[in-house]
Amino acid sequence: MSCYPYSSSLFLNNNTLSPASTRLHRTCNSARFGLRISASLNVEVHAPDSNSSSNPRITKSQELMEESNKVFVGTYARAPLVLSSGKGCKLYDLEGREYLDLTSGIAVNALGHGDPDWITAVTQQANTLTHVSNIYYSLPQLELAKRLVASSFADRVFFSNSGTEANEAAIKFSRKFQRFSHPGEKQPPVEFIAFSNCFHGRTMGAVALTSKEHYRSPFEPVMPGVTFLEYGNIQSATELIQSGKIAAVFVEPIQGEGGIYSATKEFLQALRTSCDSVGSLLVFDEVQCGLGRTGHLWAHEAYGIYPDIMTLAKPLAGGLPIGAVLVTERVAAAINYGDHGSTFAGGPLVCNAAVAVLKKIAEPSFLASVTKKGQYFRELLVKKLGGNSHVKEVRGVGLIIGIDLDVPASPLVDACQQSGLLVLTAGKGNVVRLVPPLTITEQELDHAAEILFNCLPVLDKTNKN
Ligand SMILES: Cc1ncc(COP(=O)(O)O)c(C=O)c1O
Repeated sequence: MSCYPYSSSLFLNNNTLSPASTRLHRTCNSARFGLRISASLNVEVHAPDSNSSSNPRITKSQELMEESNKVFVGTYARAPLVLSSGKGCKLYDLEGREYLDLTSGIAVNALGHGDPDWITAVTQQANTLTHVSNIYYSLPQLELAKRLVASSFADRVFFSNSGTEANEAAIKFSRKFQRFSHPGEKQPPVEFIAFSNCFHGRTMGAVALTSKEHYRSPFEPVMPGVTFLEYGNIQSATELIQSGKIAAVFVEPIQGEGGIYSATKEFLQALRTSCDSVGSLLVFDEVQCGLGRTGHLWAHEAYGIYPDIMTLAKPLAGGLPIGAVLVTERVAAAINYGDHGSTFAGGPLVCNAAVAVLKKIAEPSFLASVTKKGQYFRELLVKKLGGNSHVKEVRGVGLIIGIDLDVPASPLVDACQQSGLLVLTAGKGNVVRLVPPLTITEQELDHAAEILFNCLPVLDKTNKN
């Protein structure tokens, strides 16, 4: 693997660089190269110290980032990296440098990049029919819905275009279900419960259910009637559900953005029992943890506890935008024509891609391989990283793994990137999140663990300064 030893101050200031990157920083910071980008993203990128002025491709990445910083609304603090192609678990930047991808586009590219069956499904369908809207029926949409129903607790499916839209639909379906179930009542249950460290999306309903206050507060008033309770606290959840005011409880069986926290069986069972006793709905958000990532097709299968509604998105169409809301017949019975809809959702192209993904991931041997590789990787990480004083815990299930640190994770993430490994943060910024393509090999996991291990000293340097 080649790696690109540039220095970035996206996460590190000059005082916090590793010795190698400090050296590079000095070299590259010279007036001779003078290729510093400092824009609204607070990103500094320095040209590599060889042939930079004579290699036009190097300018290309930097020019592209500079141009981007002028035209995009500043919602993203992007890493200073322009990716141009991918194959399997490898990504390549504009200059041809290779990166091992343990991000999967934030838990999306479950089959890696350029899976041949996915490419066939997309290209064949693009040559046949791409979009018709939901005014008409289409074959790939039906095939995908039938497969989702056959492989889950659900009886019916609604398609959306993203995770937040799937949760938005689940919010509306929950309210409508309660109105339908309490005919004539002036005030049916309309409130919601969500939990600490949860993430359900960015639109006005889903963001109202998202626990991080700074995602919500600039946009208030968001949807009212949401109470956040401690994830895992059975007593507080049971008490509030028993009040009879709750339309639905939204919960991730395994929290992704929040820091890779798994629910206990007792917690999910208590939610199920309380919801059943008063008629509240239980919604499992499996946008990140669903579809094979845990080694089970659906994360909740490991618990043997089933929801009334499940939301899906990220990996379902292998990189094309999709969301899905899976519901029981009882919930679907409350929904009428016109209650919800989407122009793009469930189009033939995206659904054909999703059929290819679902077919592959649902294979028992594929799921077993995720379990095996997940266990292998966790054990390896514990062995290699566990001795470091900054590593508090390695946790997760299957191939959704968090390394909990006692310091911010971003210097490590940045150092890994410089060494050719892409990883994410999670939680309060102190967790390294590993969500590789599910097709990753043990050899690639070995390589990732080696890079993580080699980059760990950056945390000491950061901490000292
Ligand atoms: C659990 C969960 N729900 C919902 C969402 C929102 O999905 P999207 O970004 O597709 O809107 C995410 C995104 O990270 C998520 O992890």
